Amino acid sequence: MRPTESSTEAPAKPSTPNPADTPGPAETLPTLSAREAAGVVGDVLLPVLAGGVIVRRPRAMSLVERTGWDRRGVERVRALRERHGSGPLPLTVRGRSYAMVLDPEDARRVLLETPEPFSPATLEKCGSLAQFQPHGVLISGGEERTRRREFVEQVLETPRPLHDTAGRLTGVVREEAALLLAGAERSGQLLWEEFDAAWWRTVRRIVLGDAARDDATLTAQLGALRSAANWSLAGPRRRRLRSAFLSRVRSYVAHPEPGSLAERVARTPAPTGTDRTGQIPHWLFAYDAAGMATVRALALLATHPQPAARAYEEATTSDPDTPRELPFLRGCALESVRLWPTTPLILRESTAETGWEGGTLPAGTVFALYTPYLHRAEPATPYGDAFAPQQWTEETGRKARANPALVPFSSGPAGCPGENLVLFTVSTLLAALLERHAYSLASHPQLRASAPVPATLDHFSLRLRVHPSQEGRAP
Ligand code: HEM
Repeated sequence: MRPTESSTEAPAKPSTPNPADTPGPAETLPTLSAREAAGVVGDVLLPVLAGGVIVRRPRAMSLVERTGWDRRGVERVRALRERHGSGPLPLTVRGRSYAMVLDPEDARRVLLETPEPFSPATLEKCGSLAQFQPHGVLISGGEERTRRREFVEQVLETPRPLHDTAGRLTGVVREEAALLLAGAERSGQLLWEEFDAAWWRTVRRIVLGDAARDDATLTAQLGALRSAANWSLAGPRRRRLRSAFLSRVRSYVAHPEPGSLAERVARTPAPTGTDRTGQIPHWLFAYDAAGMATVRALALLATHPQPAARAYEEATTSDPDTPRELPFLRGCALESVRLWPTTPLILRESTAETGWEGGTLPAGTVFALYTPYLHRAEPATPYGDAFAPQQWTEETGRKARANPALVPFSSGPAGCPGENLVLFTVSTLLAALLERHAYSLASHPQLRASAPVPATLDHFSLRLRVHPSQEGRAP
């Protein structure tokens, strides 16, 4: 639905509506019946909350997968759109006003007009994230947000496909991948637990330096804080654990290792109040999502021979020890997050009344971008449920990049400032895993090239068979 004249910023959609094209009901903000609102709570909010917003819960993930709950959520929203138009669809849940954003142009507007009037620091997020990153940019407002965002972008080198530390990162990723593969060759398989342990060793080295490689305590502390954060405002405040965790992080910044992000933090100046070290917990937390994305991308490649051949070619045609952009493998990582978004609900809370074609929504409305719908249903046409890494690569005209519905890393002024760093890390790891090994899926028979990609992929139960391949030959 189009913003009205009274909306605060330039409208992102075409202006004058043609009455002949715009049926009556779409011109007013719809009202959901109590039954419809209950359906949204049951099929959209509950599976997201059950699966764990801040840290995934293995048993709940398995339940969501077995019951097809995520698919029901997408179908539920699709039906609402058919009935009521493209929204935003207002609904009230336990006294709080939400609006489901279903239209790609509305999604663009909400993300572009961040942080005013659409603030990323919603009450829900503040309640959760303060457990381990009380000064994180995502839950900061006003001047503080501006300063912290600037600092984060500087350290993460947001616009650059290859970070200044890419040389060291390539070495770290390849070393840890070699160790992981040595174990996988012995057992003939790759399980999530093994991957996860190797992934965290890699992440700690990238972010905090080699000295942190085996600091599993730090990850366990973060894990416990994230579990408490899953409960948002209802969770117990674990202040002692939080200060133990934060002082551990600070100790690495106090003795920074060359080439680590901690070193960049230590030597990048910032105004008082930025809390430079206080930005690191978010990076550690968010790298977890990148691990999930990697292993799921590997599962996609294990089941889709054509993209797998292309990925293998890209992985093996240039010097693997030199940092590379690897666009096709980046596309695979992006597809992994498009198909299984690690942020299924991107939330923004309005700081002022906002105008829409059919009416206004009051300040304090939480705008919810339900990415499983935006990434898979009509807004994601033509690829929807298919694995299509090529839609992210240059030669297809960056079609996916031009579609405001596809926001695996969000977008706009509060879009993920780590996207390039993540895509570099993930694609480098995928290349290392594919260079001399092929994979087939021993779990999840529902994931196959001839069927729509399933709505949920419980990564905890993924099992890949590992086949060493002859050097120089496609697996
Ligand atoms: C697959 C991995 C990742 C995905 C899919 C991802 C996605 C996202 C998304 C969707 C948001 C917006 C969240 C919201 O509005 O509520 C976000 C924000 C953010 N991400 Fe990432 N992220 C990933 C990894 C990372 C990593 C590794 C870093 C840092 C090294 C990072 C740094 C940030 C920061 C600092 C923000 C907050 C930005 C702000 O509020 O201005 N992310 N990310």
